[in-house]
Amino acid sequence: MAADSLIRPAHAAEDWTIPQNWNAYTTQEHAVWDTLFARQAAMLPGRAAPEFLSGLDILHLSRPGIPNFEELSEKLMKATGWQVVAVPGLVPDDIFFHHLANRRFVAGRFIRRPDQLDYLQEPDVFHDVFGHVPMLSHPVFADYMQAYGQGGLRALNFHALEKLARLYWYTVEFGLIHEQDSIRLYGAGIVSSFGESVFALDDPSPNRLQFDLERVMRTRYRIDDYQQSYFVIDSFEELLHQTAEADFAPLYRRLESLSDISPNAIIPSDRVIDRGTQAHASCKR
Ligand SMILES: [Fe+2]
Repeated sequence: MAADSLIRPAHAAEDWTIPQNWNAYTTQEHAVWDTLFARQAAMLPGRAAPEFLSGLDILHLSRPGIPNFEELSEKLMKATGWQVVAVPGLVPDDIFFHHLANRRFVAGRFIRRPDQLDYLQEPDVFHDVFGHVPMLSHPVFADYMQAYGQGGLRALNFHALEKLARLYWYTVEFGLIHEQDSIRLYGAGIVSSFGESVFALDDPSPNRLQFDLERVMRTRYRIDDYQQSYFVIDSFEELLHQTAEADFAPLYRRLESLSDISPNAIIPSDRVIDRGTQAHASCKR
């Protein structure tokens, strides 16, 4: 995850990485990982994209519990040339993009407490590793993540980070994909959440809309609750193609003249798969 105006902690290297200190995890911390892993692995077949489910294999290491990033990176490197590196938490945008552009995924090393299994505001090692790493073992998605990092470095010059962050949010974190006759999950924020894994697919509340790059980049998002709209891609190849091939300079210029779209809105040009009731969001007001 990235953010601006952060100060690098003294114990972090210049690229903000820190040692994972795998030996320092307690038995209880490993048990939290195992509990979360077993729960998600049991409920995701039939819900998550086959690419994510086959990617879960990469997380089976020589010892159970929280993955050791060194061993995990060795396996991931063989699969797609990616590594996982530990960081203290949020990192500045340029550092985040630089790591992605060099096929390094930055992950938190802490894990939530046993009383926080269902909700945590900051991404922990379960979200970062269980949610993100399986897809990084898929060659096309791995290329997409690198293309996103390269796009991020370019976007720094256009002051367009807010728009680009929406693309990450609605694909990498909360993306859905068409698979034959059904819609499946691949976004890390969904597949690492027990509640949202059900909500995103089954609940009548959210909109499910066909992915459109420009539309997504105009759409604000919620960080405090389940999403009010999800965007469905046709394939990872198409997502990579759109991101790698798009000429972002004219796109950013056009976006400047277009208004933002609220998270629950449907606009006339949308290709609507499900028009949500928005009952979930309404009952919380
Ligand atoms: Fe994430």
